[in-house]
Amino acid sequence: MLSDDRPLEELLAEVEARAKVCVACPLSQTRTNVVFGEGNPRSPLVIVGEGPGEQEDATGRPFVGRAGALLDKALREAGMTRRHVYICNIVKCRACVIENGRARNRPPTQDEINACFPWLDAQLTIIKPLVIVCLGSPAASTLIHKNFKIMQERGLWFSNRYALAVIAALHPAYILRQAGEAYEKSYRSLVEDLIAAREKVKEIRRLLDTQQPIPPEGEEQMRLF
Ligand code: URA
Ligand code: SF4
Repeated sequence: MLSDDRPLEELLAEVEARAKVCVACPLSQTRTNVVFGEGNPRSPLVIVGEGPGEQEDATGRPFVGRAGALLDKALREAGMTRRHVYICNIVKCRACVIENGRARNRPPTQDEINACFPWLDAQLTIIKPLVIVCLGSPAASTLIHKNFKIMQERGLWFSNRYALAVIAALHPAYILRQAGEAYEKSYRSLVEDLIAAREKVKEIRRLLDTQQPIPPEGEEQMRLF
């Protein structure tokens, strides 16, 4: 894989095609669609959420429900759109429980996260972002450190094998469950963390002093950072 010099879009499409038929964990039995991820794979910024919800499962696209609308709003406030970043999740199929005949989302189990990790590993290895934003505690525990305390450690910078800079922010679904001042405060923290991530990309670029030619397909998003 690493010595493969095909364009990264092609490599990613190949991994996606394999993920689409994955049956490595029991979530495969209840999913409608595998939600692999989308956006600009040449972006220096990757956002990683928890897992698909109802709308995502129905459409096969990440963050298209209410949490997605809030993420779009926060991205816009941070001067970005979805086309400037790549968005995916730590698990690619919806985790839910049936309650009174209705499916309710639940956090993925550690076994499900482990089973799905090779897909995320492949994505991040191909994309090689400069900065990763983890949304919520399961993503942060998976990509930053185990026992991550989202309330204490969000907004702090870490590093991992996939990116020089990794930050965790509050998950939009969590923010939607808050009211009044708590809602405002948590939403502001998400916007702040996204702004910090955008600034961090610029800072790393300056440090690395990369004046590499920009491929035409990446040109629009590159101007942002
Ligand atoms: N919440 C997530 O964590 N991911 C999605 O794709 C949608 C909602
Ligand atoms: Fe495969 Fe991940 Fe879906 Fe489980 S959640 S079936 S590991 S793609």
